[in-house]
Amino acid sequence: MVVILLGPPGVGKGTQGAMLAEALEWDRLATGDLLREAKRRGTELGRQAATYMDAGELVPDSLIVAMVQERLEAMPARRGVLFDGFPRTEPQAQALDRVLPEVGRQVDAVVLLEAPDEVLHKRISGRRHSPESGRVYNVYFDPPEQEGICDEAGTPLVHREDDHPETVARRLEVYRELTEPLVDYYEASDAPVLRIDGDQTMEAVQASVRQALDEALDLGET
Ligand code: AP5
Repeated sequence: MVVILLGPPGVGKGTQGAMLAEALEWDRLATGDLLREAKRRGTELGRQAATYMDAGELVPDSLIVAMVQERLEAMPARRGVLFDGFPRTEPQAQALDRVLPEVGRQVDAVVLLEAPDEVLHKRISGRRHSPESGRVYNVYFDPPEQEGICDEAGTPLVHREDDHPETVARRLEVYRELTEPLVDYYEASDAPVLRIDGDQTMEAVQASVRQALDEALDLGET
């Protein structure tokens, strides 16, 4: 099974993707996380991606597709895959359609998470993450036990470099211009597009996603 999580910055793709991957024992491929890790480690990919990410722009398709293809080929075929933050442009979606059959897969469903812009801005302004554990918190909705410190790693939480208000505004523009058209792309494909109200508690969103996927894909048999 291959499921794509689509939606604007801050809507909860990472949060829902992590919960879903754990519950279903699927692999999760989150391009934003992979790029931030490459940046943190100072690799050539991280260096190339940094300028785009910090400005709220998309990293060039060629770099992203090569990174995803390499990861995908290394994933065990028997496990489902959840894409989070990929594809984000039509060329990326077309590349995925070419690459998946080579590894015996296809896109089975697209989950579209939606929420009003004011909700996205509030969630992003409250987001903090731990570079060490990778865990994401929210000062308003999901705070750590001790303010500013990761519960797992015990080290300070940080604000993402692209979470400042001007960059967030640009990321939303880029989403509307380049990523939202993928809804039409997938609606014209065989994969169902499952629209989920992302403006609910994390648990309620997860329940809606699970119900929609169960109805569309009969996950009980995966
Ligand atoms: P990426 O990391 O993918 O960022 P994004 O798509 O902008 O999404 P976010 O990570 O901001 O939000 P999310 O939807 O995952 O929300 P989250 O669960 O964290 O990409 C970053 C950059 O990398 C891009 O701008 C680009 O430069 C580059 N990039 C990545 N992929 C690329 C690609 N394919 N092509 C080209 N460039 C690419 O939740 C947000 C906050 O809200 C958290 O604090 C969370 O705790 C909280 N929260 C979540 N759900 C709820 C809820 N239901 N109620 C209350 N709070 C909630």
